[in-house]
Amino acid sequence: MKILLVDDNPSIVESLYLVLSEEGYQVVAAGDGLEALDALHQQNFDLVLTDLNMPRLGGMDLVSEIRKMRNPPLVIIITAYATMETAIHSVKLGVYDYLLKPFNMDQVLHAVGRALEKRRLEQENMQLKEMIVLYNASEAISSSLDISAIIDVLLDASFSQSQADLAVLYLLEEDQQTLKMTQHKCAGCAELECAEFLQSLARKVDASRLSSIFDGQGSHVFSPGNATVAPMLRTPSTEHQFYSLLSISLKANNRYIGMLNLFSLTPGVVFSDKHSRALYILAAKGASAIENAHLYENTQQYYLQTIKSFAHALEAKDKYTHGHSQQVTRYAEVLARGLKLDSRQINMLLQAAMLHDIGKIGISESILNKPGALTEEEYRVVKKHPITGKHILAPITSLAAIVPVVYHHHERWDGAGYPDGLKGMEIPLPARILTIADAFDAMTSSRAYRQAMDAAGAFRELERSAGTQFDPELVEVFCRQQHVINGLMRT
Ligand SMILES: [Fe+2]
Repeated sequence: MKILLVDDNPSIVESLYLVLSEEGYQVVAAGDGLEALDALHQQNFDLVLTDLNMPRLGGMDLVSEIRKMRNPPLVIIITAYATMETAIHSVKLGVYDYLLKPFNMDQVLHAVGRALEKRRLEQENMQLKEMIVLYNASEAISSSLDISAIIDVLLDASFSQSQADLAVLYLLEEDQQTLKMTQHKCAGCAELECAEFLQSLARKVDASRLSSIFDGQGSHVFSPGNATVAPMLRTPSTEHQFYSLLSISLKANNRYIGMLNLFSLTPGVVFSDKHSRALYILAAKGASAIENAHLYENTQQYYLQTIKSFAHALEAKDKYTHGHSQQVTRYAEVLARGLKLDSRQINMLLQAAMLHDIGKIGISESILNKPGALTEEEYRVVKKHPITGKHILAPITSLAAIVPVVYHHHERWDGAGYPDGLKGMEIPLPARILTIADAFDAMTSSRAYRQAMDAAGAFRELERSAGTQFDPELVEVFCRQQHVINGLMRT
């Protein structure tokens, strides 16, 4: 346990220093309040023994400063000038004990022993809480496949674990050289100014150079004055001062993937090896989870690409449906913009439009390209394509929103559609939009058994079926865009 001894009387300091050191405590001495504050800013202490009357900064002012610290040490006041006023003030400031000079050593040792036992119990309690935080974070990380959510958990846990003011996570770019700042968390993010300040500090640290000095291995605690770290700070200035830096490398499958940097901007909060060890383990877990999420994302992308290629190949085989999805996507976008949907909704709709007939992969060409009316059995097969589409797209979690749109794109406003026979507003809006775009392209393109209708005829047909097949309000908006639609039609 570490004790800070503060007294302007050298003989008192000396005698206390000797006795406490002999008891096995680690003791640091300071000649007045200012010297003590300086020490408190550089190191962690468990207990401060302080005199009251001292030059420059007295004991009471020192205690007030200590109270402002995060995780402040306990304080015992030792004074020859006790007054009722100072005693009451001490109690108010949460001073642990109050001893009068001249003191006997047994009395001091007894008070110190009790204080440090209280401190030990508090620390144990805190460690237990920290372990619970770590455990919960570790569980949350393992069960997630969302990179940004994993990083959030990692940053949150680092914060509560280390009392950092700023945590910044960097990931290696595809070039395997550049570290890119991905997410950060700062204690004062609520205030914009503070957030900007903290971010600027994060930018001033050259992450790539920092990681290169420890070769992307392990976790390291640095003080800003450290000769190795100082050159890594691009423009260190007093206003951007930090008191401690904990830099943790992120490794997954033995491969370096990034770095987590924690900064303390609070005097007296200095990272320790304990923080370093605990967070290194969590960071390793986070790194594996990030890597897994990456792999998962890639697999999903490949799968999506494959599906898109299939869809493309399917359409390309038949001259009548060639480019159908592309056209439907264009018309759907015009209608969506006419409805003033936001960009997120529009993007989702366009994905759905591109993939709306993906389920036709499961239908034989003889039915799809049949130059005549379908038999009842054939029609039953065709009607399955929204269901097949849903099954094909369901494994891609990032496409979860478009699955119901693909599934319902053959519903009718009057409830006579398929697969569920939904009616009116029960049908999701993007599906109602898609139905109109789909029908318009089908009518205006040739089939083996009929000629293409012209645009005017197709618009008339949409209006005729508004309120039965189509959402009438959407038809109205679509028809208002005739000039735009005409410009997008196949030539
Ligand atoms: Fe369809």
